[in-house]
Amino acid sequence: MLRRLHSEQPDSFAFTAANLAWTETQIAKYPEGRQASAVIPILWRAQEQEGWLSQPALEAVGDLLGMDYIRVLEVASFYFMFQLQPVGGIAHVQVCGTTTCMICGAEDLIGICREVIAAHPHELSADGNFSWEEVECLGACTNAPMVQVGKDFYEDLTGERFREILAALARGEVPTPGPQNGRYAAEPLSGLTSLKDFESGRDQYNASAALATGLGDTIKRIQGDEVPILKPRAKATATPQAKAKPAKSAPVAKAAAPVASAQAGKKPKMLKAAKKAGADDLKNIKGVGPALEKLLNEMGVWHFDQIANWDADEIAWVDQNLVGFKGRVSRDNWIEQAKILAIGGETEFSKRVSKGDVY
Ligand code: FES
Repeated sequence: MLRRLHSEQPDSFAFTAANLAWTETQIAKYPEGRQASAVIPILWRAQEQEGWLSQPALEAVGDLLGMDYIRVLEVASFYFMFQLQPVGGIAHVQVCGTTTCMICGAEDLIGICREVIAAHPHELSADGNFSWEEVECLGACTNAPMVQVGKDFYEDLTGERFREILAALARGEVPTPGPQNGRYAAEPLSGLTSLKDFESGRDQYNASAALATGLGDTIKRIQGDEVPILKPRAKATATPQAKAKPAKSAPVAKAAAPVASAQAGKKPKMLKAAKKAGADDLKNIKGVGPALEKLLNEMGVWHFDQIANWDADEIAWVDQNLVGFKGRVSRDNWIEQAKILAIGGETEFSKRVSKGDVY
């Protein structure tokens, strides 16, 4: 299957504040210079927020991680778990079409998807609420045939039950995930043959179905503020205040509050607007994409010579106050690059920008 960017793209993408705070906890897991290692979880979070990965979303992730956009697209287009086209507003249905499910009736389920949702996979239903695709084995073969809807499995399906589930989802309900034929889990269809005492004392649902029911996020988009997130692990470059705090669960708002950040270093002189000759194209600095350039402009940074003159304290302040891009000044050697660019010189990276090799 050809996996490429969708022909229609939104104008922009932005993580919610809580999701952005969460991305920092992922980036902090890796050493300086290795932030790109966080690309998969961060792409996944972007997809959980929007349902699919648009070009602006891929670019935002590239800016966040200092990666060339093409590198982010390579990852997103390689893994089939990433959706590169819009999905249904209510649900995207993934039907397992591998051997066991196929033998047990997956073709009927696919036929129902074609009839009820859309004629082709990855096509939106007429009302835009559903989409579907056939996927490889999802590891629930004992309970074939099955589909994944959002984050949960619906197993032991018949065509009739599958239609009921789609209708319930369309009404805004979320049917209980798990086996749909009365089976508790993956025991024999004819009933337990051993450990029969277990039957009388068991809970209402098996552990997976109980967890899915408890969380209730089967088809929910993740805004990031649903549950408290762990604070980013203190880095070697963190301020003494940040180091002193033990890593523990904290509400998102607290995790995102840049208390230590505001105190780090010294704020450099900022400009209210670009000089008369116009702003420099800060994207000539390696690691600065459109989103980061916009943030810099909003902070009052418009020119290479401003950056070239920052001292160590000022670098520390900017590094800590680039929300969503912390540490970029040091990590990408902005000062060295800016000194060359400020006097009209070129860096290896700015030459690539001029040639149009950087997207
Ligand atoms: S074959 Fe369908 S889940 Fe394994």
